[in-house]
Amino acid sequence: MSHSAPTAASRGPREWSPEQRAEIDKILARYPTKKAAVMPLLWMAQDAWEWIDLDVMRLIASTLELPPSHVHAVASFYTMFKKAPTNRYFIQVCHTLSCALVGADKLVEHIERRLEVDEHGNSKDGLFTVLRVECLASCGSAPMAQINEHYYERLSPEIVDQVIDALRAGKHIPEPRPEADQWTFPVS
Ligand code: FES
Repeated sequence: MSHSAPTAASRGPREWSPEQRAEIDKILARYPTKKAAVMPLLWMAQDAWEWIDLDVMRLIASTLELPPSHVHAVASFYTMFKKAPTNRYFIQVCHTLSCALVGADKLVEHIERRLEVDEHGNSKDGLFTVLRVECLASCGSAPMAQINEHYYERLSPEIVDQVIDALRAGKHIPEPRPEADQWTFPVS
């Protein structure tokens, strides 16, 4: 089974479908200005095309009658908007202060070493992409990381290893569950 990331060409043209245009009309009705709709449209675009490239930014800019530089600035500021293709499992490790104080750097170094990532954060096995990001608003449960849509908190290298092993074995992303002061992972 191949886990390679989609290519720019395989994502199709960057044009809104009729359904997306109808959704955009609904979004615009909720905001006082078109400018305020940049982030909702970035989410929509990421859902549709998996990452935000310059063509997507230009499309959003023309839709909202904004300079492309404004859309670029918003997309660049927020790490939740992907600017490049990622592998099947996207691991975002917070390295801001609360997480840094309890070992985020060691944690991310462990993950990078374990997955043998290249300079773009992509793992040797083609399954994972690792990125250091700023605060993900879970500071009280540091150190933490987000894997795709899931938050994993109070992490340790040992727990990260459990998750990686489960994902490599083809199991679903383990659901984090708090038990006492630690997460456990139902990996079956
Ligand atoms: S500092 Fe890591 S989640 Fe806020």
